[in-house]
Amino acid sequence: MDLISLIHSRRSLPASMMDGRPISQNHLSSILESAIHAPSHRLSEPWRFVAHLHNERLVLAEAMAQAYRSMLGTSARQEKVDRIYDKAGKCGAMIAIVLSPPSPPCNPIEEELLALGAAVQNLHLAAHSLGIGGYWTTPGYTDHPHMRAVLELQSQEQCHGIFYLGYPAKAWPSPRKVNKNKIAVKGVSP
Ligand SMILES: Cc1cc2nc3c(=O)[nH]c(=O)nc-3n(C[C@H](O)[C@H](O)[C@H](O)COP(=O)(O)O)c2cc1C
Repeated sequence: MDLISLIHSRRSLPASMMDGRPISQNHLSSILESAIHAPSHRLSEPWRFVAHLHNERLVLAEAMAQAYRSMLGTSARQEKVDRIYDKAGKCGAMIAIVLSPPSPPCNPIEEELLALGAAVQNLHLAAHSLGIGGYWTTPGYTDHPHMRAVLELQSQEQCHGIFYLGYPAKAWPSPRKVNKNKIAVKGVSP
């Protein structure tokens, strides 16, 4: 598939729609290395990607469940906790998305976040090119102290969610309808 078709057909594939097949080391390396080819101002490379495979998915899910329970207290819902474990079992890999700017900082934090977003898009497109689906989740607890401890985050680092990777259990979601009013061209095109 050419790059433009790849970009246009990329969709988020929720973990609930994945079939639990593991992702090969080769494919995982290609996907993660695509992420770190993203641009960053002053080459700050403000990211860290921590892939969790096999049993490590459950270790991460455990930390997520603890973080969720600790954040919500008595409002925490068991079905939400069950869903965290269910998703860990259905995906092939869980990748912690870590904002990891240099210390001392060399760019405004907004620029580092923009670079992180570019890296995640590279990751998603690389996965898509290999027939692997994925989606980025940003529940409010992924930077909770339980998560920070499991991910061994340094003080300047923040966890900005989890990217689930996996093979689709059924058909791919169809391409999304986009709002073309969001783009404008001024001047004369060739
Ligand atoms: C920064 C960011 C955070 C996101 N967080 C969540 C999330 O917490 N839960 C979720 O289901 N999807 C999340 N998504 C995925 C979006 O819901 C999804 O990209 C959007 O619905 C468009 O669908 P598409 O990716 O299939 O085009 C996130 C996407 C981005 C870029």
